[in-house]
Amino acid sequence: GAPVQADISRLEPGQRMTVEWRGRPIWIINRTPEMIERTESLGSDQLADPDSEVPQQPAYIDGGLRSIRPEIGVLIGICTHLGCSPLFRPEPDAEGVGVDNWPGGFFCPCHGSRFDLAGRVFNNVPAPTNLEVPPYRFENDDIIVIG
Ligand code: FES
Repeated sequence: GAPVQADISRLEPGQRMTVEWRGRPIWIINRTPEMIERTESLGSDQLADPDSEVPQQPAYIDGGLRSIRPEIGVLIGICTHLGCSPLFRPEPDAEGVGVDNWPGGFFCPCHGSRFDLAGRVFNNVPAPTNLEVPPYRFENDDIIVIG
């Protein structure tokens, strides 16, 4: 499949947009400083693979935020359990997620898997791995090329 371009110039802090690449939804999230702080404060007591040791991302992606720029997250929006599309629940203590002190992230309604705002899977959910990060690069400040 051909690479896809995404223009993030109008993606406000705290928002998520979706583009399609190879028939799959690609989420692009503009994380606020506060969202970054919440995500970075999660640790191995809550996350199954906080350091992404199971390769679910290109080799040039590292760190807890799993992204090139700290504020811009790019993820394949497909649950790693059985392929449902998780819901964007970025706010702390969002309703319906089913956990106290929810730090914000993605919630899969099919069987209750939860992921943080970097796509890292929480402990004790059916999904076995973090969400995938697709190959991508920044063409300039506003244009991301996926694929
Ligand atoms: Fe997402 Fe099962 S498909 S939890």
